[in-house]
Amino acid sequence: MHKRRFLLAAVALASAAAIQAQESIKIGLVVPMTGPFASTGRQVENNVKLYQSLHGDSVAGRKVEVILKDDGGVADTTRRLAQELVLKDKVSVLAGFGLTPLAFATAPIATQSKTPMVVMNAATAAITERSPFIVRSGFTLPQVTAPAAQWALKNGVKRVVTLVADYGPGLDAEKTFVETYKAGGGEIVESLRVPMANPDFAPFLQRVRDAKPEVVFVFVPSGMGAGFMKQFTERGLAQAGIRVLATGDVVDDDLLNDMGDAALGVISSFHYSAALPSAVNRKYVADYTKAYASARPNFHGVGAYDGMHLIYEGLKKTKGEGGQALLDAMKAVSFESPRGKFAIDPATREVVQDVRLHKVERVGGQLFNVPLAP
Ligand code: PHB
Repeated sequence: MHKRRFLLAAVALASAAAIQAQESIKIGLVVPMTGPFASTGRQVENNVKLYQSLHGDSVAGRKVEVILKDDGGVADTTRRLAQELVLKDKVSVLAGFGLTPLAFATAPIATQSKTPMVVMNAATAAITERSPFIVRSGFTLPQVTAPAAQWALKNGVKRVVTLVADYGPGLDAEKTFVETYKAGGGEIVESLRVPMANPDFAPFLQRVRDAKPEVVFVFVPSGMGAGFMKQFTERGLAQAGIRVLATGDVVDDDLLNDMGDAALGVISSFHYSAALPSAVNRKYVADYTKAYASARPNFHGVGAYDGMHLIYEGLKKTKGEGGQALLDAMKAVSFESPRGKFAIDPATREVVQDVRLHKVERVGGQLFNVPLAP
């Protein structure tokens, strides 16, 4: 009799545990937490935690568990970790992806396993074409570059040198800038590409100086911007009268304050700035600053924060179901983000958003990308 009762209790416990296990929804988050792009991983981790602390850690009555993995910025590692997350941990969603090659490496796994993949950071336009399961919550380089070229045209800039990091997003930025600027009658004096392995800006900055443009248009991935600005100043290009026009990656909110006066006056085009005056952004920046001892969120952070909201909104609609149902639900999501209006284009799974121009100014003793009047 005792034995039977014990067995029944054990069965009940085991099935309760099984339901619990089945009920938790897992998100596999893969980002660089070490290496030269660790600042991206830190922003993503901080923002995912902030999102869950403000919005709770369950959706549709099920617990949402985030499994964070560090790929060190190495594509083979990203692919292996994503594979393990899908096969062993049975995640419902893959998310993160700090650099384009890391997103490219993972796309076939999303397709084969039919796992939705939310690209929060990597920004080459072609990423969303690599798998029908990819949805983007960050931005693309063409989105933010075209308004930079239009700013140059509108402000009477006649001669530009372009300088970009020599890989996916840099080539997107160069192509978009050159096409838009030339179509409006501008002259591209030279187009320079800096290698990603061992980036030394010195010889390239010398060529910019010799070409004597009014403006140098720059894209380098976040993390590399501070090095660029330092060398730009040290080599006297500002004194030679050359201005920097950039995508917001170069004057990234995470690193901007440490760049010092070298960054003052830089014009950047981007979808996010910590200085956006909307109520939603003010609250977001205050929440982040409170949680992380006066640090500031940047565009990678907002890509992660909004990426979590996209996943939560999708899961609410599917009542926790993943796979194709979650993908379809996420295609129809739109909301008011700290960056402004955020929507997913259902045809391309690409983020739709506003892009603004900013100027680096000192506000209350700190450097900010202050939005220019439209
Ligand atoms: C990318 O590799 O796609 C990437 C990384 C950092 C950026 C922008 C693009 O700031």
